[in-house]
Amino acid sequence: MKIGILSFRSADRKASEEEIRLKKEAIALGHSAKIYRVANFHMVYNQSSPCLIYDGKPFAKCDVMITRPAVLVNVELHIAIVDQMEMMGIPLFNNYSSILFAKNKVKTMQILDGKKIPIPKTVLLQRQDDLKSAVKLLGGFPIIVKQPYGSFGNGVVIVESMRALNSFLVWDKPMYLLQQFVKYAKGRDLRIFVVNGKVVGSMMRSAKKGEFRSNIELGGTGMSAEITKQEADIAIRSVEALGLEYGGVDVIRANGSPVVLEVNSNPGFKALEVATGINIAKEIVTHAISFSQGFHQ
Ligand SMILES: Nc1ncnc2c1ncn2[C@@H]1O[C@H](COP(=O)(O)OP(=O)(O)O)[C@@H](O)[C@H]1O
Ligand SMILES: [Mg+2]
Repeated sequence: MKIGILSFRSADRKASEEEIRLKKEAIALGHSAKIYRVANFHMVYNQSSPCLIYDGKPFAKCDVMITRPAVLVNVELHIAIVDQMEMMGIPLFNNYSSILFAKNKVKTMQILDGKKIPIPKTVLLQRQDDLKSAVKLLGGFPIIVKQPYGSFGNGVVIVESMRALNSFLVWDKPMYLLQQFVKYAKGRDLRIFVVNGKVVGSMMRSAKKGEFRSNIELGGTGMSAEITKQEADIAIRSVEALGLEYGGVDVIRANGSPVVLEVNSNPGFKALEVATGINIAKEIVTHAISFSQGFHQ
């Protein structure tokens, strides 16, 4: 099989370690594999030319494309290429709409809540006048404020007072997410990696000292962790609700019951492989191949 890995990194940067791992595992399984750089594609619309050109030549389709959408701004524009591939009938191991949903924290919360998947109480705020009632709905300070698009903990802040909140929010933004702070978690959360409807690995992440965000990129550390059936179940349902084939779900243990914070459509897995010893890249590639076989039937 011909396996593609779609890298969204800018052309002047090397492919990520994860992208290289995926390529190596595909080759180890006896397939051919190539990392495609989004910046090297261009799309043509004139009803006769091949509509996708890669490095100046018509793009030769692959059997499955594993997408690694490392984008945070203008997401819709950046991932138009994924939509284009979908229109060309290429099986996508994470398709356009699922990436759009997962990148947008507002959309994610809407979908998860609609499916009755537990999330921390969240208020979407559009004007200053509603601040007081929003904070009241959340049970008072401290609260968490998130930007609709963000990753690696960027744009996630903890706010302790109305004075801080008032001075922090800038009203030229369309919307903020205000969320109940899950104090009980004490800077720890679970990263649950789901591929093809199954949990393939999970770890507990702990924030570094003085930090409430557990992101590895912010100095958090990962340790292999047993998860409960309920935690596995909500992670699997979250990935499915967004329509993802694979995803990394952030779950936080609130007092007694787990809640989902977000679902990542471009989850890193380096730290998870180190923490668990599980070959996550191989899991992704293996399932992408069976997805492709099912797709063509
Ligand atoms: N409601 C919350 N209560 C407590 N901690 C939270 C809450 N929301 C986020 N966090 C912490 O902040 C981290 C980053 O938040 P997340 O929503 O996953 O955004 P990002 O996309 O930046 O990773 C989480 O992994 C968690 O440690
Ligand atoms: Mg996260």
